[in-house]
Amino acid sequence: MRPVETGVMAAKDMAFRPVAAPFWSRLSPRTLKVLLFVVCLVPLARLFVLGFSHGLGANPIEFVTRSLGTWTLSFLLITLAITPLRRFTGQGQWLRYRRMLGLFAFFYGMLHLTTYLWLDQFFDWGDILKDIYKRPFITFGMTAFLLLVPLAVTSNDRSVRALKRNWARLHKLVYPAAILAVLHYYWLVKLDVTQPVIYASVLSLLLGLRVWWWWQKRVPAAKAGNAVAPALASRGRQG
Ligand code: HEM
Repeated sequence: MRPVETGVMAAKDMAFRPVAAPFWSRLSPRTLKVLLFVVCLVPLARLFVLGFSHGLGANPIEFVTRSLGTWTLSFLLITLAITPLRRFTGQGQWLRYRRMLGLFAFFYGMLHLTTYLWLDQFFDWGDILKDIYKRPFITFGMTAFLLLVPLAVTSNDRSVRALKRNWARLHKLVYPAAILAVLHYYWLVKLDVTQPVIYASVLSLLLGLRVWWWWQKRVPAAKAGNAVAPALASRGRQG
């Protein structure tokens, strides 16, 4: 019998037991993409389930419009979170999912706009134009959506190749689109602005990180430029 030794061994074993890898790390990137695709459809499926079970409340059109709007904004922010995730974890695999998440933002945005045009305005284009012109929150929402259109259209590999460096420049439109989307939300809320302020804070953090990284990259480059310039000048004088 070796009770003490057994106890010690057990403690040691526990101390050095490798941390179990999360189950998704054993899935192929393709399977993960399919899984993510299905997960991204859950908010839409939820609306169908609620619709068929009379769970959309007293004003179903408002419920559906608002839910789709919330998911458009959430997908926009999730898409913007991919670059920070890649940088903080050092894992480039996050980038594999960015395009799909961005397209889901556009997809939910399109459904959100369609509910407004169809179920809210009955395609009365005169009223719709008046709304866009007169109600700032609709103006912001519309502009945000229009900015997303070229991004969705050029999200394929062919466009990436054809546009070369301009592709990345064009896709920076996602930043003003996200800002306008948050303003759209802030403007439509009449009393409790907690939710839009939370979205605005998350967006500020995501954009702030980018400004910080851009600044970090600029400062050493400027310093290197300052160091090289006198050296070149003195070489010029010597030469
Ligand atoms: C990127 C584009 C857009 C985003 C991210 C977005 C996001 C949102 C969000 C977060 C809400 C509030 C949801 C809530 O109250 O919980 C909302 C509501 C709404 N949005 Fe949008 N939206 C966008 C574009 C548009 C467009 C293009 C229109 C119409 C032209 C529109 C019309 C509306 C309307 C009518 C409401 C409901 C207002 C109310 O019930 O008081 N949105 N949207």
